[in-house]
Amino acid sequence: MLENRRILLIVAGGIAAVKVPDLIRRLRERGAHVRCILTKGGAQFVTPLTLAALSGDKCYQELFDLKDESEMGHIRLSREADIILVAPATADIMAKMVAGMADDLATTALLATDKPVMIAPSMNVMMWTHPATQSNLQILKTREVKVVGPSAGDLACGEVGNGRMAEVPEIIAALTRFFQKNDGQGPLTGYKALVTSGPTHEPIDPVRYIANRSSGKQGHAVAAALAELGAQVTLVSGPTHEADPDGVNVVHVETAKQMMKACNDALPAEIVVCAAAVADWSPENAKQKMKKEAGKTPALTLAENPDILATLSQPGPARPNLVVGFAAETENLIENAKTKRAKKNCDWIVANDVSPGSGAFGGDNNTVHLVTADGVESWPTLRKRAVAERLAERIAASFQRHL
Ligand code: C5P
Repeated sequence: MLENRRILLIVAGGIAAVKVPDLIRRLRERGAHVRCILTKGGAQFVTPLTLAALSGDKCYQELFDLKDESEMGHIRLSREADIILVAPATADIMAKMVAGMADDLATTALLATDKPVMIAPSMNVMMWTHPATQSNLQILKTREVKVVGPSAGDLACGEVGNGRMAEVPEIIAALTRFFQKNDGQGPLTGYKALVTSGPTHEPIDPVRYIANRSSGKQGHAVAAALAELGAQVTLVSGPTHEADPDGVNVVHVETAKQMMKACNDALPAEIVVCAAAVADWSPENAKQKMKKEAGKTPALTLAENPDILATLSQPGPARPNLVVGFAAETENLIENAKTKRAKKNCDWIVANDVSPGSGAFGGDNNTVHLVTADGVESWPTLRKRAVAERLAERIAASFQRHL
């Protein structure tokens, strides 16, 4: 997939620049052409000679290099690339990209390009979590900039946390997926997928509601992973703090009934993944704010909500080929998941332990078991994004088998 792809690699000033020689080597092994721009900061960590030797091309550094400008200006650098990869992408270069600054060759090339851009952020955890960087990240995402990493772990500054540049294989995988998708060649290209995510809010009156602790992290990650594999994804999401994933059609809803309607509107689809924590009941809500009256506690009358997973799994000509549910359980995980799979008539159940201490609700990790007609697969504890990628790969493989 990377054969003959032209990658303009911008190396900014972060310690992760030391991973770049290996990245170039691996890209060239796969037949990619790599041309490097090295920023002043980047040159503190890796030499232009190393990059030139490994890429087999000149390493570009200066904006106003008369010879380069006549032979190879910044415009031509970007024109002759299929993608621009910024690795490592520092907080500084991300901020400059957002602001549209062009004070060196790297930022000028980034501003002057109409080519796809991918960044591999790398920085101290405080810089990464700073609202300025997070807001820049969101802006870059809205401009279709692809983002790979960062991951959590030991940082060069001695702190531990999110901010490590994605590892070389992860960057290669992201580039591969990008080109696959670009060529309309993902394993799920041509398939429609519907994913539900997040909690629902069930109003008691105009200002109060019943909710649950679902963060939407797992469902959103599943939607993103299916889209990465080429599926055309509609994500029906309850209220969450998660950003809309790249390349996914997101429908925002609040209540279970709205979620049911949005799902029906999104059909037909070959793949359905119900990851939302849908409220089982909704109160018969008051039109006006309920007033507090001394000595009186109001009774809530609850009505059953539609079971979206069970509804979408009903047999019929329009039933999606593969319906996957989640089972969040605090005890007898696998047994309950098997029962749920049969009761709801779905094809697979992803069972996860949400007992207090598991960290699954709201956390970044998940320990899951995949329950199918063939049996139970127990996966190791993984980041929710990795669970989503693995699930998407399994879904793709199941469709490949039926081709
Ligand atoms: O029955 P329970 O809530 O444990 O089942 C969980 C699974 O069913 C999840 O996949 C969830 O998205 C789905 N579900 C649903 N609609 C409901 C309740 C649960 O789609 N009303």
